[in-house]
Amino acid sequence: MDPLEKSVIACPSMVLPFLFGFLFLLSGDFRAATAAECKGRWIYIRELPSRFNTDLLATCDDFPLLFELREQQEKNLRPFIANHGLGPRTHNRSRSWYRTDPLFMELVFHRRMLEYPCLVADPAAADAVFVPYYAAIAALPFLYSPDQWNSSALHGRDLTDWLRRDRPAIWSRRAGHDHFLAVAGAAWDFDNDPAQTPVWGTAFLGLPECYNLSALTLESRAWPLQEHAVPPPTSFHPATLGRFDAWLARARRSRRPALMLFAGGAATSSGRPNIASSIRAECELRRDLCDIVDCSRGACVHDPARFMRPMLRARFCLHPPGDTPTRRSTFDGILAGCIPVFFEEASAARQFGWHLPRRRYSEFSVLIPKEEVVFGGRRIADVLEAIPPGRVRRMRAAVLELAPAVMYRRHGSSAALRARKDAFDLAIEGVLRRIRRRVQAMEQGTNPLVLVGEDEEEQQQQQQQQPSDR
Ligand SMILES: *[C@@H]1O[C@H](CO)[C@@H](O)[C@H](O)[C@H]1NC(C)=O
Ligand SMILES: *[C@@H]1O[C@H](CO)[C@@H](O)[C@H](O)[C@H]1NC(C)=O
Ligand SMILES: *[C@@H]1O[C@H](CO)[C@@H](O)[C@H](O)[C@H]1NC(C)=O
Repeated sequence: MDPLEKSVIACPSMVLPFLFGFLFLLSGDFRAATAAECKGRWIYIRELPSRFNTDLLATCDDFPLLFELREQQEKNLRPFIANHGLGPRTHNRSRSWYRTDPLFMELVFHRRMLEYPCLVADPAAADAVFVPYYAAIAALPFLYSPDQWNSSALHGRDLTDWLRRDRPAIWSRRAGHDHFLAVAGAAWDFDNDPAQTPVWGTAFLGLPECYNLSALTLESRAWPLQEHAVPPPTSFHPATLGRFDAWLARARRSRRPALMLFAGGAATSSGRPNIASSIRAECELRRDLCDIVDCSRGACVHDPARFMRPMLRARFCLHPPGDTPTRRSTFDGILAGCIPVFFEEASAARQFGWHLPRRRYSEFSVLIPKEEVVFGGRRIADVLEAIPPGRVRRMRAAVLELAPAVMYRRHGSSAALRARKDAFDLAIEGVLRRIRRRVQAMEQGTNPLVLVGEDEEEQQQQQQQQPSDR
């Protein structure tokens, strides 16, 4: 019996039948993984009713406030559901580039999970349990419908009830500590105190059940609890190793006349000093060294060509914190071989430990504390120009080495590309490690919620990255 097929059949009736139709094509190229390869990595997918995932997609355009806040021209998101959440291709002839909206990262994970080589049909045999809930899409009414703000503590309650009531043995086997899900948002949007009148966000991560499960989010809190940040999907989703390597070769060869690049929105009108406006001011003065891509009014979200071409021509990409510390453009820049410049540690070094090795930040990035720029009058161009060319080349090589780890390849990719670990593969490895630790703690009678430092996770990751692993 093929567990993949079973999960496909179990997949509920769809409002958007095209969504998972492609799955039936999976077979020939997908060699079954052996039991030895899957040891410790078996995953069971919970068979959720469609109201928890695909049905929600039909509602994603119902929130005018979302479009207002995003300030983007398009007033609908449904076109970006195409290709299982990767979005439409940028052009008819484009093979690897899509107009990907990070909101649909939950679909991307769901789709990739369905072709995970170690799926198991029996939950009692699973090392981990994937919950294909579209948490961030389910949160839209609580975030963007003012009449629902006061009910935002309800976000996810129906799901957690269902998880405990439907085939209760699946949850109770490990009190949910083996469950995980993907959340296409920042953890702080979901950590409200249900006892307080909400200003923004929902209380999803504070539900008693959600303390026990692991969440893969696009950004974690300063003191992450059950969540771990994974890279937001960029627009690059190659399906073959040839296309991936061709892009890397292009990024490696690219001439880079610009010292630095800033791709971002217009300066905020608040007028208070902040790092983004300092960067803009410096760039305006030094157009010979600094390139600016205007991303205001949501101009960049669905248009990768707008910023990828300039990123290929710049040696350094500036990534100041925006509304939240992290930026998707950090990952676009890595794919372009543009060396990231951070202005606070929270922007990446405290976030993406499974994907960007924490101890190697100085090899592939530059950190200029924002206070030194905003209040100390330090010029970014001076710092970057002082880095010797040989070191810049080594840093760029280190950046491009990270490219596979931050890229989400297209579902149904060639076997050769599947042999490279991408952002999804590393996220799954990370969450399996975390669940293994929690389950061990439970078995030893200690508290599974006691946190383990990221450094230790990273060490384990490095130990496990042996060729035998895959
Ligand atoms: C792209 O393909 C679509 C559908 O096949 C077609 O309607 C459209 O005209 C094409 N666009 C270009 C620029 O060729
Ligand atoms: C939400 O609750 C607050 C405090 O109880 C109240 O002032 C406000 O009017 C409520 N808003 C809505 C939309 O019901
Ligand atoms: C969460 O896990 C703890 C054990 O760590 C368990 O006592 C508790 O009942 C679990 N919560 C739920 C809602 O299952």
